[in-house]
Amino acid sequence: MRKVLTIMLAALLVSGCAQAATPDPTASEQPSPSASAAADAPSAVPSPAAEPSPSPSPSPSTLWDVDSAASLQVIVNKLRPMDPAAFAPELVPVSTENEEGAEVVRPELDAALTRMDAAMRAAIGEGTFVTSSYRSYELQAQYYQNAISSYGQQAADTTSARPGYSEHQTGLAIDLQSTARECRLDHCFGATDAGIWIAEHAWEFGFVVRYPQGADAVTGYAWEPWHLRFVGTEVTTAMHEQGIGTLEEFFGLEPAPGYAS
Ligand code: DAL
Ligand code: ZN
Repeated sequence: MRKVLTIMLAALLVSGCAQAATPDPTASEQPSPSASAAADAPSAVPSPAAEPSPSPSPSPSTLWDVDSAASLQVIVNKLRPMDPAAFAPELVPVSTENEEGAEVVRPELDAALTRMDAAMRAAIGEGTFVTSSYRSYELQAQYYQNAISSYGQQAADTTSARPGYSEHQTGLAIDLQSTARECRLDHCFGATDAGIWIAEHAWEFGFVVRYPQGADAVTGYAWEPWHLRFVGTEVTTAMHEQGIGTLEEFFGLEPAPGYAS
């Protein structure tokens, strides 16, 4: 009897160890750089000799879905067009002040913008004013043609995306002024109280200034202190902590200075 109990105890211990060594299938469902850093930390429990050696840490572009048009982290640039080209997201009216009350965005962006607007009002006494938000493929085509008519194609390509290549089509990008309505779509916006506050604090609400100053060779566009992209606070906090200014660099994607053709 004692021998039978001993065998049963041994079997229980072995099965318990086997469970502990099995990876948690939910571990990858909440992508987070800090979670992956924790997974890299040495374990207090020695690994069984038969366990395969740990694989390299996943890169940010495998932790987040940068490819699907509906993903909050989708990356659209001159080398990564909208796919499908006619993609149209779920949209809600912008809750804060905006152009003719007609601007629409993804609900996740609107919730974050509402919080940022309140924080900016509390900090500098001016709210946000959205001048442009979701643009369909057709509307972007009009904007791009207008830019070509005004500046010629070469200059237009530094400020306006070709239809099918604008992240405004994701519903996750906005162009901003403050309620003081200064420096619309102008570099001088970057020197206003609102522009300075946004550059310093937008990340706290999940936004990045998508086309930073001096990053043309990576993003393909000149500085746009007014253009914000919502990607969520997990990404923007990691970018802030790591001192990374562009989404291409954060996700380890190739620079997109120009179109493939
Ligand atoms: N101004 C940005 C690049 C756009 O047209 O999407
Ligand atoms: Zn924009």
